[in-house]
Amino acid sequence: MVHAPADEGPAFLDTLESIADFYTKDMGGRVRNDGPGVRLKWSRDWEYPWVFTRAAAAAGEAVLDCGAGNSPMPYLMARQGASVIALDRDAVVASRWRYGLGLASGWLRALAALPAEARRAAELTPAPETARSGTPGELAAPRDQPAPAGAVPRRPLPVRAWRFARHRLVARHKVAWARVVKPDVWGPVSPSLLARYGVTYLFGDLTALPFRPSSFDVVTCVSVLEHMPPDSRAMGVRDMARVVKPGGRLILTYDRHEHDLTRDLLEASGLDAVELVCFCAAAPSQAARPRPDVIGLHLVKPR
Ligand SMILES: C[S@@+](CC[C@H](N)C(=O)[O-])C[C@H]1O[C@@H](n2cnc3c(N)ncnc32)[C@H](O)[C@@H]1O
Repeated sequence: MVHAPADEGPAFLDTLESIADFYTKDMGGRVRNDGPGVRLKWSRDWEYPWVFTRAAAAAGEAVLDCGAGNSPMPYLMARQGASVIALDRDAVVASRWRYGLGLASGWLRALAALPAEARRAAELTPAPETARSGTPGELAAPRDQPAPAGAVPRRPLPVRAWRFARHRLVARHKVAWARVVKPDVWGPVSPSLLARYGVTYLFGDLTALPFRPSSFDVVTCVSVLEHMPPDSRAMGVRDMARVVKPGGRLILTYDRHEHDLTRDLLEASGLDAVELVCFCAAAPSQAARPRPDVIGLHLVKPR
């Protein structure tokens, strides 16, 4: 069980430092405001160095990173001399200005659609009387009667319209716009970095990988399984295990929720477990903002 990256020892912290340097300087990546001493993002400070050291990608090895997003892992493994493919279902590969242009056109489309959307939203909003009465099917109070106690008064129309527009045009796009200035793990993925490190980026689903069995020495998948629908996680692990060569490794990290997936995923992989680690968030310093624990699973395919 690990509580903080420091529990893994000084060599691990050195690896974290060099990954954080690469992510912030070479990739211009955003560090999440997760508390004092965080170098990248709360859980990634442990996940990236852990995956990097367990993958131990060597020169000439074939590596696949599934659900790669805008991770530094593919570049760092390519820097070791490995031949790396990054695969994701919906990351955006684009320079920042191109990504910004795409956002701007989406924003303009949202602006143009605003009046129609507002009309639709107004039609779907219950009439004030019904909203006040609170109970479906109950007769609405006549307009000249006071609203029942506890009723939420409706805001004036201009305030509601402003809030609606702000949500559609600002809140929805805020995070994406921030990525133009500083990308995060969701992207955009830089084409020039891909070219510089010789990393191939493919669009695809990790539950149906477009590769022959036993194609890769190393397959990694960092913080993806918990974002997938429950019934496709085991399917994904099965397919990732399929493309690992005999003697090759599959390295997974995922959040542990109430229902821990580990037993199902291990079974689905059909591989041998070398290491199972829990990066536990229950450290006292994090009690104020509870986070899920993160599991690291290092598997090897029998020869
Ligand atoms: C939280 S991000 C993690 C990105 C990266 N692995 C990292 O650690 O920075 C999750 C990524 O998984 C991708 N993803 C989710 N389901 C997927 C699937 N079925 N096949 C391929 N990629 C998937 C998403 O598009 C997203 O980029």
